[in-house]
Amino acid sequence: MPFKIPFMPEQASSMAGEVDALTLYLVAMASFFTVLVAAMVIYFAIRYRRRSPDEVGGSFDNSALLEITWTVIPVLIVLFTFVWGARVAFRLYRPPADAVQYYVTGKQWMWKTQHPTGQREINELHVPLGQPVKLLMTSEDVIHSFFVPAFRVKADVLPGRYTSLWFTPTKTGRFHLFCAEYCGAEHSRMIGWVTVMEPEEYQAWLASVPTQGSPTAAGERLFAQLACHTCHQDAAGAKGPALGGLYGRPVALADGRTVLADESYLRESILNPAAKVVAGYEAVMPSFQGQVSEEGILELINYVKSLPAGGSASVAAASEGAL
Ligand code: CUA
Repeated sequence: MPFKIPFMPEQASSMAGEVDALTLYLVAMASFFTVLVAAMVIYFAIRYRRRSPDEVGGSFDNSALLEITWTVIPVLIVLFTFVWGARVAFRLYRPPADAVQYYVTGKQWMWKTQHPTGQREINELHVPLGQPVKLLMTSEDVIHSFFVPAFRVKADVLPGRYTSLWFTPTKTGRFHLFCAEYCGAEHSRMIGWVTVMEPEEYQAWLASVPTQGSPTAAGERLFAQLACHTCHQDAAGAKGPALGGLYGRPVALADGRTVLADESYLRESILNPAAKVVAGYEAVMPSFQGQVSEEGILELINYVKSLPAGGSASVAAASEGAL
């Protein structure tokens, strides 16, 4: 639905129209009731004013019909608002299955981005038109917030945690990117651009940017460098659990709990291995806190995600060969 409102940023994502329609509805609703209540206050104050000092108010009968009406109508309005708002919120928080994952790292005071094919940018992100894009985001220091007004998306970027947002660009062009959380002296300069290009143009752009290889390949190198494969083997008696097919699976822990092996779990297991020890293993893994950057952790996670079930030993052996 195209709403042409001069004080709104342009609409450049698939969700922009929906977010604007909801915002417009909320503003219209609030304005209508504000005016209605104010007008009635003024009207009743004049209509029923005391005309002489000894005037006594008339008797008053309760009206069940009136009371039911002014209860039921607002309940219906509020429920309608809730359902609409919840639907938009759910869509905003659930990336479509075909979304391509990009990476964003916030840092005082810049945005570092990385493409699934490995290209890195600073304060810039190039994406193809019409492709759903999911951003997996984290911070190296304090809380930042990734905000692209034209896409109507905003999400906090937190140290020690992954957050995400998604959008499907519907217009080519350059769109402003802001940090929307006060994060220190140069917060206001933590800005950048998201550039949406035609898919062919984007491919040509990708080819023009030198890359160290995909995050998965970088993760594989890092995995070998840190010698993770000496313990994480798909073999009897290995000191660490095999990592093949781990991502997205439930993991039984030594303390009886079960957790889902998502990005946050993998990150925690690299930085604070003792927090969630896998059932059947000892807490012997050292922490890699301070040895791996946030980007390095993302690369390791990418690599672990890429390992097929039962394939970690052979992949580990391959990366040993690559060293
Ligand atoms: Cu980063 Cu404000």
